[in-house]
Amino acid sequence: MIELIVAADKLCTPKGNGPKSGQDMSQVELLEGVYIWIESGKIVEISTSKPKSFVRFVEADLVVPGFVDCHTHIPFYGFRENDFLKRVGGATYLQLHSSGGGLFETVEKVRKASETDLLRFNLRFLRELLKKGVTTVECKSGYGLDRENELKQLNVIDKLSKIAPQDIVSTFLGAHAIPKGLNEGEYVDQLIDMLDEVKNYTNFVDIFCDVGAFSVESAKTFLTKALEKGFKLRIHADEISNIGASRLAAELKAVSADHLLKIDEDAIQALAGSGTIAVLMPSTSFHLNETYAPARKFIESNVPVAIASDFNPGSSPTLEPTFVMHLAVRYLKMSPEEILTAFTLNASCVLGLSERIGTVEVGKQADLVLYDDANLLTLPYMIGLTPKAVVKRGQVFEN
Ligand code: NIG
Ligand code: FE
Repeated sequence: MIELIVAADKLCTPKGNGPKSGQDMSQVELLEGVYIWIESGKIVEISTSKPKSFVRFVEADLVVPGFVDCHTHIPFYGFRENDFLKRVGGATYLQLHSSGGGLFETVEKVRKASETDLLRFNLRFLRELLKKGVTTVECKSGYGLDRENELKQLNVIDKLSKIAPQDIVSTFLGAHAIPKGLNEGEYVDQLIDMLDEVKNYTNFVDIFCDVGAFSVESAKTFLTKALEKGFKLRIHADEISNIGASRLAAELKAVSADHLLKIDEDAIQALAGSGTIAVLMPSTSFHLNETYAPARKFIESNVPVAIASDFNPGSSPTLEPTFVMHLAVRYLKMSPEEILTAFTLNASCVLGLSERIGTVEVGKQADLVLYDDANLLTLPYMIGLTPKAVVKRGQVFEN
């Protein structure tokens, strides 16, 4: 029995299971006047006709795949409003970080918080994201910076994934900063020791390889060990400065290199041959009042581009997908079609979910965003635009 029919005046979707690069990022299919047939949470047919019987029917002017936010820092605890004021007053990310504030403030709050506190605080972000059409969310640790608290965060992510309707992908970012009281080498050894336990929670590790965080040498030591243990690699690279982190991502064939504000031409070419996806997060540039990643160069050089929110209390206190899209048009100079591919299919490739998630095609999970009175350009144009409904695994959430 067909459980749900979504009638789309216009259906816009990238197609396929692999990451798109270059001109293929613009190759978004537009189907008009179609019915999407959904059974057991999956798309079973896309047709200009509808079946004789079905349980539920919804219609919309525009339907796109559910958005995939492949880089957030959920779960965290408490905000950092004072950092915002200091930054507006001219303080840099690095100044706040080096003086023991910045993300260390969040580390203290997360360490003090119980799992219940963390669940309560972060569940609302997932609810908000769902409302905005984000049907898949990457969450990471990184505010514990010791075994107990990193595992606490990973546990919370596990629980969130059972409570929230979204698909949640977990990443271990124990290598987010060097905790006070330890030197870099000591902490890298501890991180390596945690890997076997971490494997019970996730297949992804990430590291912040930058000034004030981990050197390329330490990152290489840690990531090589993680690779040996079967983890997929991600790197926060070239965000604050260029110390060669994106070149390391290319060398180790990381799944993604994230941020890339300060990348140089050689590293772009290195990434082009590596299969690594460039995850660009323009809202971080906005909040840090920094430069924007050279998205056009990535696209011209055939590096697949994904976009994400980087939602966190310091450098990107925003989870609004249309704001990210707006900045992607305004500063990354991406077209609405490229943005759609970057925020759906390419992002699902980062998370290893593209067989199931990221496009509206027969056989894929029924994750859809429905809008009235909108075309593809309305999304980045109107910051805060809320969809009329979101479909997650065939379940309708009306706004
Ligand atoms: O992606 N760069 C490091 N991590 C985050 C910021 C986290 C924080 O400041 O709380 C980022 O920008
Ligand atoms: Fe980040």
